[in-house]
Amino acid sequence: MESANVYKVPDITVEKNQGLQHADDFTMAQPFERYTAEDHAIWHQLYLRQSALLPGRACEEFLQGMQQLDVAPDRVPDFDHLNRKLAQATGWRVVAVHGLIPDHVFFDHLANRRFPVTWWLRDAARLDYLQEPDVFHDLFGHVPLLINPVFADYLQAYGQGGLKAASLGALPMLARLYWYTVEFGLIQTTSGLRIYGAGILSSKSESIYCLDSASPNRVKFDLARIMHTRYRIDTFQKTYFVIDSFQQLFDATAPDFTELYHSLQGSPILGAGELASDDVVLNRGTGEGWSDTADA
Ligand SMILES: [Fe+2]
Repeated sequence: MESANVYKVPDITVEKNQGLQHADDFTMAQPFERYTAEDHAIWHQLYLRQSALLPGRACEEFLQGMQQLDVAPDRVPDFDHLNRKLAQATGWRVVAVHGLIPDHVFFDHLANRRFPVTWWLRDAARLDYLQEPDVFHDLFGHVPLLINPVFADYLQAYGQGGLKAASLGALPMLARLYWYTVEFGLIQTTSGLRIYGAGILSSKSESIYCLDSASPNRVKFDLARIMHTRYRIDTFQKTYFVIDSFQQLFDATAPDFTELYHSLQGSPILGAGELASDDVVLNRGTGEGWSDTADA
């Protein structure tokens, strides 16, 4: 689930949700009867493809989470089944939603350890890329890490920070942090670089590109730096930020951001592929194949 800076319901979300209602907090019962045999077959195909690819690429915490959650390989998982496992592990649960939801609602769910998951699945024509989050991205990509206690705390703290950032006019800065960590983060391990971001974990091509390609920059995590860096929504990232541990992520983001927001207000925003003079650069990207369309 991404937080939408501007809440606009995409056409595909409208189409998939025809005749379905949601509660005031945008949640709904998972409409299991709406999944077709084709949906389950697509889930199976995506699941098999990513589970074959990710060992040695995804971080161990994610792979363990997959195992522990007992995510169904051959059909769209039953959220209630996952919730029993999640509740035992970290007290999180997933809630079904139509699709993207307003920022303040999204943050409130995270702050209360509820992870909004789009219930519907992409169709066969859009197997490899879909701009909107669907159940494969939201569930396969995001939910396994909720089993990890430190990451689980980080995401809750992010939700609490979001509610505050909204009142301080700082949402774009916080959205960049989410993007470069929860969605597209890499982590350094003793075995090498690994993926923990859900936007990568749910994408075959970016799971390969982010680790193997010489094109992108790979830079050590720096909170303030990330908060004033643009990102890509329609192509692979030009820069990936690398954490040393989930504890580092949690510790860096635990303090109150009010001062940081003030100090960053008005400072120039870096382009998605730009390097800053004080970056700790692990790999300077060649820039090959980068799109010259505008960064988000
Ligand atoms: Fe997401």
